[in-house]
Amino acid sequence: STSPVRITVTGAAGNIGYSLLFRIASGSMLGDTPVELRLLEIPQAVKAAEGTAMELADGAFPLLRSVDVFDDADAAFDGTSIALLVGSMPRRDGMDRADLLEANGGIFAPQGRAIGEHAADDVRVLVVGNPANTNAAIARAAAPDVPGERFTAMMRLDHNRAIAQLAAKAGVGAGEVSRIHVWGNHSNTQVPDVDHGTIGGVPIRERIADDAWIDGEFTTTVATRGAAVIAARGASSAASAASAAVDHVRDWVLGTPEGDWTTAALPSEGHYGIPEGLVAGVPVISRGGRWEVVQGLELSELTRTRLAATVADLEAERDSVVRLGFVPSTS
Ligand code: NAI
Repeated sequence: STSPVRITVTGAAGNIGYSLLFRIASGSMLGDTPVELRLLEIPQAVKAAEGTAMELADGAFPLLRSVDVFDDADAAFDGTSIALLVGSMPRRDGMDRADLLEANGGIFAPQGRAIGEHAADDVRVLVVGNPANTNAAIARAAAPDVPGERFTAMMRLDHNRAIAQLAAKAGVGAGEVSRIHVWGNHSNTQVPDVDHGTIGGVPIRERIADDAWIDGEFTTTVATRGAAVIAARGASSAASAASAAVDHVRDWVLGTPEGDWTTAALPSEGHYGIPEGLVAGVPVISRGGRWEVVQGLELSELTRTRLAATVADLEAERDSVVRLGFVPSTS
């Protein structure tokens, strides 16, 4: 039988962790592959994580080989092949963006370093904790010996939200929507792009036949969906975020479906004019366990303008973490 894959989840006692761990244990993420789970938490939350570990045991998942809880990053990432960085410092009242980035640099730089020093050679990293794109850039900068492309941030929830809105508008199932993606930052500057997409094989703008909705309400709804969920639920998106993380890693490891693409935030190599090193949402396929940017798409005037704004948003975050010393100014 296949040897188990070691997976580390940070923020394991949090809301996303509570959903994510059970999806991983059930086989949703890696298919019929045994898994070893390593849960990293801050000391105050270790007891809660141990409670979650008890429930994971009680799930009697045939694929779940072990669950261990840590409050030390070096130990938690030891030998790990998949690192899901969920735990982060949320924005509190009175915190500006620089405060938030500084607090998160204090989390993601040491975790990046621990991954670089202790993880398996094939480690793949997905940052979920916000501000996810820039936290991924920070972790990457702290692990210079790990290929930079292994550090990704989650834009899959934004992608899935866009699919859901389009499918609802067209009155079809989510599986009918193909070839869309979301550019840029996981923030309200993100840019859902449907210009190359299809619904049931028909170009989306033809099928929906409402450009005003696509360029206006649709875009805004997708970009502000997180706040709308908080307003309704009284807590931020958790199960949908966990589901998106599962989708991201599954596609990365097992490949994207033939003929379709998805969204992941990857360290830019300059494609589509996105400055090198920014971790930005782009259209991607995955083959042989590697993301490849879908190249050569024609961008509309509107998309170009909006892409420039979300890139500026990412650059402002990058400038802050360069000033704070978490990321070198050259990357
Ligand atoms: P939560 O507050 O319920 O859980 C976060 C957990 O992280 C807590 O248990 C906390 O103790 C832990 N934690 C904090 N610092 C840590 C550290 N240094 N090492 C290990 N664990 C640490 O939050 P929730 O709802 O689970 O969300 C987690 C993060 O995911 C937040 O930053 C949230 O903004 C982000 N998020 C990102 C989304 C995306 O699409 N990229 C979507 C939804 C949430």
